Amino acid sequence: MIFTVAIDGPAAAGKGTIGRAVAERFGFAHLDTGVLYRAVGARGGDPVLAARSLTPEDLARHDLRTLEAGQAASRVAAIGAVREALTAFQRDFARREGGAVLDGRDIGTVICPKAEVKLFVTAAPEVRAERRWREVGGDLAQVLAEVRERDARDMARAEAPLRPAEDAILLDTSEMSVEAAVAAALALVEARLNRAT
Ligand code: CDP
Repeated sequence: MIFTVAIDGPAAAGKGTIGRAVAERFGFAHLDTGVLYRAVGARGGDPVLAARSLTPEDLARHDLRTLEAGQAASRVAAIGAVREALTAFQRDFARREGGAVLDGRDIGTVICPKAEVKLFVTAAPEVRAERRWREVGGDLAQVLAEVRERDARDMARAEAPLRPAEDAILLDTSEMSVEAAVAAALALVEARLNRAT
């Protein structure tokens, strides 16, 4: 069975948590595509070369979740040739046998416009910043500034800007618990799977 769940949305909206839960519940493979851009940014040097030669070791680095790595990721993610170098890997992953969940910024719009389920997960910037702050610690005001700056760059860029696909289902998790957001996503995927079989 080929079945793709595309989860897009701004920084720290809960895409990863929802993606992992959907993958686990239905036995799908899961790809956090942000890791690809974080790994390219963390390599330093020529980002296009880095994107063309990413290795499993690059993706397993332990410094990919820092605020700096997030900023570096969003800068290299604006470069068309970087995105192009990462496209085939993501598309192959999305259409693999057995089902796949991908979370990122452009999965429903560019990587997999025919995904069976498209979710756009969002929340107010303050809520997202607080969630990220719980993960990385430090200064909350700085985390909020980082989230806002990255969102602005991701939405304004010419290449694959962050925006919901026309047929994406919007999930605003500002006032939802993680459990409720996960439950809503699971129900949506379940309903679509029942139609597919
Ligand atoms: O975890 P968080 O939502 O904060 O970020 P991420 O998903 O790890 O993505 C880091 C950065 O990579 C984003 O700010 C985007 O600039 C870029 N990205 C992208 O352009 N396209 C994707 N499909 C995934 C990430």
